[in-house]
Amino acid sequence: MQVFVDCDPGIDDALALAYLASRPDVTFAGIGAVFGNNSVDVTTDNALRLLDLYGRSGVPVARGASRPLVQVPRLGDYVHGANGLGEVVTPEPSGEPVRESAAELLVRSARAAPGEIDVLALGPLTNLALALNLEPELPRLLRRVVVMGGAVRAPGNITPWAEANTYNDPEAAEVVLGAGFDMTLVALDVTMRTTAHEAWLDELGRLDNERARTTSSFLEFYVGHYSKVFGVRQCAMHDPLAAAVLLDPGLVTSSVEVPVRVELQGEYTRALTIADLRPTPAADDERPSVTLPTEVDRDVFLTRMLDALR
Ligand code: BDR
Ligand code: CA
Repeated sequence: MQVFVDCDPGIDDALALAYLASRPDVTFAGIGAVFGNNSVDVTTDNALRLLDLYGRSGVPVARGASRPLVQVPRLGDYVHGANGLGEVVTPEPSGEPVRESAAELLVRSARAAPGEIDVLALGPLTNLALALNLEPELPRLLRRVVVMGGAVRAPGNITPWAEANTYNDPEAAEVVLGAGFDMTLVALDVTMRTTAHEAWLDELGRLDNERARTTSSFLEFYVGHYSKVFGVRQCAMHDPLAAAVLLDPGLVTSSVEVPVRVELQGEYTRALTIADLRPTPAADDERPSVTLPTEVDRDVFLTRMLDALR
């Protein structure tokens, strides 16, 4: 299975890369970095460092968008630390980014292997929107796209309504969600209920290898933030759950097929993701539907995530 990961590492992005890297059946077609949890320079550098940590050095990493399509950028360093990885110092990366942009690398990879590449998008969707601009046939060139983003029936995590990846580039999200990809949207609806609890975090802390030790240190900062959100020591598993949904679709125990739009105008609701959830949706809606998981098997996911770091 060939996977192109578009990401903004990011502590939970790191967990997603660990999940993918642990699987011998996964070949990384490339990694695109995007601004989001930190500047694109930092997220690109972190992607290279994480490939070294998780044993996949040599995968092409491309620097992507440094800012959203329209609005001014905002960064998530209060969740992920000043260096995007919980202020943990990791070895200098062995590789360098390629010369192409993330959008160019994605388009070239998709054209070289039509229908074979899956995309896992874990940050703002800016690189994917730019790639669509370069290659409007992209939805037919890719096999499947799994996106971590949005909050349909759940509250937001940046505003009461908006999820961070969507909030960071709502115009890009609106374009990508309507482009006609075979798409699964792993939203806060499931990621906020798929939390790593205290016993899991302790078990990770006991694993005796460098990957697990470093990942456990990344998580300290992140868990510090989420413990304030939840009131107990635990954290949401956004990006690794999206990775798991891509590799192990059986983890999704319930889902709906719905068109999803992104609010671009609202004074209070900008970046809200809206789905037509009526039992009989409008028959004349030409917006393509996406798969929205509504229930996942949290315990099996947590076991697999831990196994990935064993
Ligand atoms: C998403 O926002 C980022 O901070 C995380 O890495 C994740 O992709 C969750 O809303
Ligand atoms: Ca992310």
